[in-house]
Amino acid sequence: MDGPAGTGKSSVALMLAERLGLEMLDTGAMYRAAAVVAIDEGVSADDGDALAARIAEEGLAFDWSRKPPRLLLGGRDLTERIRDADVNTVVSIVARQAPLRAAMVRAQREIGRAHPRLVTEGRDQGSVVFPDAAVRFYLDAHPEVRARRRVEQMRAQGRPADYEAVLRAIQQRDRLDETRTDGPLVCPAEAQRVDTSGLTLRQVVDELERRVRACVAAGLLSPPRTAQPA
Ligand code: DC
Repeated sequence: MDGPAGTGKSSVALMLAERLGLEMLDTGAMYRAAAVVAIDEGVSADDGDALAARIAEEGLAFDWSRKPPRLLLGGRDLTERIRDADVNTVVSIVARQAPLRAAMVRAQREIGRAHPRLVTEGRDQGSVVFPDAAVRFYLDAHPEVRARRRVEQMRAQGRPADYEAVLRAIQQRDRLDETRTDGPLVCPAEAQRVDTSGLTLRQVVDELERRVRACVAAGLLSPPRTAQPA
């Protein structure tokens, strides 16, 4: 599942995985961990080789016994740290670095092999990392809708939020994600595009679940292990 920031991908992926009895991989969290390395360890955000080397040395891993899995770097739990505001500003630069992306793609494919019944979400999952995935979705929504959602989310967490500033940040991040040469944000021709602008989170999950089950019914997928009748 791919798509720009603010389409609700992480929440949708988690809920869809729960309904279908699958595991969930948030690949944005891995790039966010690299941004934490840049900030906390003073590694330059545009030095992809150094970032990849630090991550290889320290070891980036998920704790799959937890749902959703917690993110560990060298044993340090980064699950909360990666959501801090300073990480948001650095992560788009970090995610443009080709050597780091190559290492992340390798790590994600390894996770895919170890956890083959997986809902994975990011920007390049259907286009680069798992082009042969059984089902590929591209979630989209108008930037104004995504900004409104982000503002509501921040205010619900008691954080101050200015709509115009959030909208500008989203448009800036879209530009960075879409224009990088390596693994840019694109909707592959074979992916199913879902515009979530007018849908609630629940409606999006309902729609995706329906589509996955339709693929199962058509014999394109093995049935989810804990499948409940829809
Ligand atoms: O989905 P997110 O906001 O947590 O993603 C954080 C950043 O990482 C964002 O700038 C996009 C980038 N990213 C990426 O380039 N490729 C992915 N597979 C996932 C995220």
